[in-house]
Amino acid sequence: MEQIFAAAAPVRTIHVAVITGASSGLGRELALQLAADPRIDEFWLCARRSERLEELAARLAKPCRILAGDVSDPVWIENLKARLAVDKVRIHILVNSAGYGKLGSVEALGEELNGNMVDVNCAALVRISSVCLPYMQDGGRILNIASVAAFLPQMDFAVYAATKAFVLNYSRALHRELKARRITVTTVCPNPMATEFFDVAGESPKVAAFKKLGVEPVEGVAAKALRRSDQGKELSIYGAPAHAIRILAKILPHNFILWAEGRLGM
Ligand SMILES: NC(=O)c1ccc[n+]([C@@H]2O[C@H](COP(=O)([O-])OP(=O)(O)OC[C@H]3O[C@@H](n4cnc5c(N)ncnc54)[C@H](OP(=O)(O)O)[C@@H]3O)[C@@H](O)[C@H]2O)c1
Repeated sequence: MEQIFAAAAPVRTIHVAVITGASSGLGRELALQLAADPRIDEFWLCARRSERLEELAARLAKPCRILAGDVSDPVWIENLKARLAVDKVRIHILVNSAGYGKLGSVEALGEELNGNMVDVNCAALVRISSVCLPYMQDGGRILNIASVAAFLPQMDFAVYAATKAFVLNYSRALHRELKARRITVTTVCPNPMATEFFDVAGESPKVAAFKKLGVEPVEGVAAKALRRSDQGKELSIYGAPAHAIRILAKILPHNFILWAEGRLGM
């Protein structure tokens, strides 16, 4: 007797872009520039301000999942893990842009702020990458947002600069580790950009000094980062001043750099 089985409809794999820090600045801009990428079917947008994420989702013209919450909250990480396990998506690109810096001496900022900068900029980024890696598509992309601050120690921005040095070194090693899976990790090292970053960082004469180093356009930083990522490059640095800072920080003794920062009010 002939038996006829209805052919199961092929299950289409959904290719996802997971973007943290999507509510503002560089993360938001990267999401907007990725909207037309045919390799992405769906966006997972992450940040604390859900209304901002909803506003972005309305502009992306692709399905979006909003994962609102604090990336350093273990409950939020568990939710991400659970969502990935249930949806069984493949991640085409992971963008770790959530981050912040507070200006001020280590002593003045105190335990809570110093510790939280490390939790958000470093620990959460590492946890999110670890949770996402099993779901990353071979040949996929990770963009980790560091800063030019990664290249040198900075007084009164000590913890922030150190968190970005961590992101840079971690990401470069991860880039090598993932070679066999053809997953590239591109570390983005912007100079100051006109985002909400300095509203959060706080008032300081240092801000004007930082901005004298050259304010980079967030659209240009994002476009270059995506281009470098597609080329499989491990670093994306936008402009000549940022390149110069990287080279000087390699050549000059860091004691001298700290002395010069003091003299220049940076
Ligand atoms: N702007 C600059 O001058 C500059 C220069 C070099 C590097 N960077 C780096 O670039 C990245 C993006 O910064 P930006 O310039 O775009 O600044 P921004 O406009 O202030 O954006 C920061 C993003 O991070 C999110 N975020 C911060 N803390 C979070 C937390 N605990 N949980 C979840 N999301 C959190 C914010 O969302 P919610 O507030 O909605 O949670 C926001 O979407 C950061 O890693 C920053 O360190 C910035």
